[in-house]
Order: sequence, then structure tokens, then C-alpha cells
Amino acid sequence: MEPSLTRTSTSFPELERRAHEMLTMVSKYTTNLPIPLGLPHPIPGDFQTHPKIVLLTGSTGSLGSYLLELLLQSPSVERVWALNRPSEKSSLSERQINAFKERGIDEDLLRSAKLRLVEGTVSREMFGLGERDWYDVSLSIPPLL
Ligand SMILES: NC(=O)c1ccc[n+]([C@@H]2O[C@H](COP(=O)([O-])OP(=O)(O)OC[C@H]3O[C@@H](n4cnc5c(N)ncnc54)[C@H](OP(=O)(O)O)[C@@H]3O)[C@@H](O)[C@H]2O)c1
Repeated sequence: MEPSLTRTSTSFPELERRAHEMLTMVSKYTTNLPIPLGLPHPIPGDFQTHPKIVLLTGSTGSLGSYLLELLLQSPSVERVWALNRPSEKSSLSERQINAFKERGIDEDLLRSAKLRLVEGTVSREMFGLGERDWYDVSLSIPPLL
């Protein structure tokens, strides 16, 4: 027999009950989040008062590019280590510039002295970084984004 394509409609009280359950869960599991929900800025509040060193992975991607833009613009961020996997197609610098261009993000931000764009792999020992970079990164004990 063919499976029925007709869905039984859920009653309004049942929907209301499920919505209430979901909101209760959201409230329960977000109470202690460092970023209050509803705020448009994804950088925690104490970034404004304590200079931060941040290790950001996947900065050539969509989310990563927007995060990198915010971090480079933030006066309270001292340094951004942007760690990305190597590619044989093009240099990391080219890929990051293209990622910014594609999204209409100001690529001049990438000239910032606080940006360290490095190739590496988090699953490898010392993230696959050279000793100097690893030393700097590990000393920083940065928040991971
Ligand atoms: N975009 C959003 O609005 C959004 C919202 C919430 C959550 N997320 C989550 O955030 C993550 C990133 O999303 P996105 O939209 O920015 O994706 P994306 O544009 O595809 O970017 C992915 C990034 O991760 C890197 N990457 C992918 N696979 C990797 C691997 N195996 N090893 C190392 N690096 C790897 C990519 O590097 P290459 O440049 O080398 O490919 C790129 O930098 C996803 O998990 C997504 O589900 C995204």
C-alpha cells in the first residue's frame, strides 16, 4: 500500500504545549551563556574591557569571515590568529581576500597588524604550526571560536 501523504493536523493546545516546552528548554540551557540571546553582537561584553587574543578557525568560510571582520574591527581585540587548513589551489592569503570580497567585507581589514593568518590543522600536533607560531599561540591560551 502507498504511504499516505496526508498529515494529521496537530491541535492548537498540543502546539502550544510543545512551544512552551521548547521555550522552557531554551531558557534552561541558555541561562549561563556568556552571550545574552537577542544581542546582535556575537562578541562577549568583557571584550570591551579586557584585550583579547583569539584563535579563530575556518576564517575563509562564511561565518568565519564575518567573525574575522568583527574581531579585526574590535578595539579590545589585541590579536587574531586565523587558523585555516592548507590548500593546494591557492594561498591562504588569496583565499581570505576572496572570502571577504565575495561577502562585500572590506578587504583592507586584512592588512591589520593584529591579524596572524596561519595554515594549520587542529588535529595535528601543535596544530601543524611552526615552533614560533605554536609558542605564541599556546602562550596566549585564547578563547576558541
Ligand atoms: N553561516 C551561518 O550562518 C552559520 C550559523 C550557525 C552555525 N554555523 C555553523 O558554522 C560552521 C561554519 O559555517 P559556514 O557557513 O561559515 O561554512 P563555510 O562557509 O562552508 O565555511 C567552512 C569553513 O570551515 C573550513 N573547513 C571546512 N571543512 C574543514 C576541515 N575538514 N578542516 C578544516 N577546516 C575546514 C573551511 O575551509 P576551506 O576554506 O578550506 O574550505 C571554511 O573556512 C558550520 O558548522 C555551520 O553549521 C553557520
